[in-house]
Parts: sequence; C-alpha cells; structure tokens
Amino acid sequence: MDPTVSDFLDSTEETRPASAEDGSPRHHRAKGEPRFPDGPQADPAGSHFERRIRSFQPRRSRVTTGQADALQRLWPKWGLDIDGRRTLDLAELFGADLPVVLEIGFGMGEATAQMAADDQGTGILAVDVHTPGQGNLLNLAERNSLTNIRVANGDAIILLREMLPPDSLNGLRVFFPDPWPKKRHHKRRLIQPEFLDLAATRLAPGALVHCATDWEPYAEQMLEVLSAHPAFENTLPDGGFAPRPEFRPLTRFEGQGLDKGHVVNDLLFRRVQHRDQHTPGD
Ligand SMILES: C[S@@+](CC[C@H](N)C(=O)[O-])C[C@H]1O[C@@H](n2cnc3c(N)ncnc32)[C@H](O)[C@@H]1O
Repeated sequence: MDPTVSDFLDSTEETRPASAEDGSPRHHRAKGEPRFPDGPQADPAGSHFERRIRSFQPRRSRVTTGQADALQRLWPKWGLDIDGRRTLDLAELFGADLPVVLEIGFGMGEATAQMAADDQGTGILAVDVHTPGQGNLLNLAERNSLTNIRVANGDAIILLREMLPPDSLNGLRVFFPDPWPKKRHHKRRLIQPEFLDLAATRLAPGALVHCATDWEPYAEQMLEVLSAHPAFENTLPDGGFAPRPEFRPLTRFEGQGLDKGHVVNDLLFRRVQHRDQHTPGD
C-alpha cells in the first residue's frame, strides 16, 4: 500500500545531533517541525498527490551529523527543491554557460562527484529523493571544490516535465535505477516508453543517454524500449549493450550487485536530430 501524504510529510527520518553519536538520546522532531529549516523540503512538488505510479518509495533513513550539516549550510547555495512551479534557467543555476547533464537517482553521490571532478566543463544536475545522499553529495562537492554540481530534491519526472526547457539537456544518466524485480512492480520502472517520450523533449539533439543496470531483465527492457524509440539511436554499431566506459566510475549499487555475481550492462544511446533539423539534401 502506498504511504499516505501525512506519512511522508511527517516522515520519521531522523537527524542525529552531534551528541547522539556520543550515546545521548536522539533528537525526535515534533510533528510538522521542519527537518532542515534551510535545507530540502519534504516532497516539495507534492508528487504524492499526483495519480501517477512513482519509480521510488520514500525511505526512512538516518541522516548523519555531517550530512545534516551539509544540508543546512550548502542547500541554499547548491540545492534545488523540485517545486514544479518555475522553468529553470540552467546558465543561471550553474552560474556559467556549461553543457548540463541530468543524473537521475545518484544515491550517495560518489560516482556523481567523481564524474564532476573528471569533467569540470560539464554541469551535473543530480536529482534524488534520498536525503542522506543529498547531504553526502553536497559534502563531496565542497570537499573537492566542485562547483559544477547542483543537487535537486524531488521526483525527476516533475523536474523534467515542469521545470526544464525543451532541448536544455546535453545528456541523461540513469545508473542502477531501482530494478523493481517483482512482476507487479514492473510498472514502477523508470525506463519506459512514456519516460523516454518526456526525456526526448528535454534533450538536445546529439545528447548522450547513458543507462546502466545489474538486473538483466531490466537491461533487456531498457535495450528494447530505447531501440524502439524514434528519438534515440544506439551508439554501439552492433545495436547491443556497451561495456562500462572508462568515464563511468563504479557506483555503490553496482558494487553490491557485483558482489552478488550480477552482470552489469551499460547502454549508450544518442538523441537523434529533430525531424525538421535535417540538412538540405538529406
Ligand atoms: C538503486 S539506487 C542507485 C543509486 C546510484 N545510482 C548507485 O548506482 O549507487 C536508485 C536511486 O534512484 C532514486 N530515484 C528513483 N526514482 C527517482 C525519481 N523519479 N526521481 C528522483 N530519484 C529517483 C532512488 O531514490 C534511489 O536513490
């Protein structure tokens, strides 16, 4: 059963003040008390009110003192609540005219920070609903002096649909999305034709779509729907999966999958030109 709205808004995710790590009792927030007055808001766009199957579930997870500190201090600078109420100006958001890639579901953000460090000429708009991960990624960005990451809190679908202008993205990364292995949950998987319809409108021609998964049935589904979609073409000449490119670091979920003996597949597709953009003579 889906959680109720109040379950989410009053989510019992806890912050632990410094003293808790020394063994003193944890701080439990009063009902309605904001978790981080200057940090991310709970369900900012109210996605729980939408009659839509979501690809994630709210998790009750602990935020460490270091993560809480980063959320309080750095959210006003590098954080973004997905409120669904405005169109983003990405040059303004990044403070520079960088090509921007969207990463959906960065988890704890280690791979995101690594890719941002390796390519500082690209902005990464990293979205997840997982609060400890948001704090962790903000910490990693600060520690490594990375200015090309922005951390968005909320449902990536609302970000894409309501807040990103057409053709604004130079890439899309979806690494180890929740596999939803049970048949009755397959409808929750992110990579579906409807998602690709939406993503195609926000991706500039030539943008790279990079997915990876350690769940083979999901890999097959990704390959099938991406290959069938007219807006995307496989960059692999044989039309199949790609080996992990050097520019994608191992991710935390990938490590867990590899420990279980799972096979990892990468998919590298490109957004094709819009139909009306063919050069004369094509
Ligand atoms: C299985 S984890 C993978 C994390 C990371 N990429 C890794 O490989 O370690 C998938 C993440 O996607 C996030 N997620 C799923 N659907 C999302 C959505 N629609 N919007 C934002 N985040 C989403 C989940 O919260 C979760 O943190």
